[in-house]
Amino acid sequence: MLSRIDHVGIAVRDLERAIEIYETRLGLKVSGRERLESDGIEVAIVPIGDSRIELLAPTRSDSKVSKFLSERGEAVHHVAYATDDVSLVLQRAGEAGAQLLDETPRPGAHGTRIAFIHPKSACGVLTEFVQTDGITGA
Ligand code: CO
Repeated sequence: MLSRIDHVGIAVRDLERAIEIYETRLGLKVSGRERLESDGIEVAIVPIGDSRIELLAPTRSDSKVSKFLSERGEAVHHVAYATDDVSLVLQRAGEAGAQLLDETPRPGAHGTRIAFIHPKSACGVLTEFVQTDGITGA
């Protein structure tokens, strides 16, 4: 029920520097940037094929990405899998023993619905499920 990698989030200290690195060393191109005030982060979107890399930089010292950076340094922050039914994959993950960080899916960016499971439940990787289409209701 997970169909592909939707995106990989990478925690970075300095967004300008990270963009420079990904554009010059990897030859990728940032398509846009977005500040998510509620999460205390700024995101640079780097499309690649059907997926994208999201460079995540904290805008506040109390954001979760700040905490992540202080504990682990710059690194892969989370992997997001696309699904056509986020409620179902979340329920199945829970039934299979995963620790759910979201008991029910919540709104993500651009009208998506998202839910996270704990890194301890996925070999150390914060794991996101994201439903981008076929969403009914609010
Ligand atoms: Co994400």
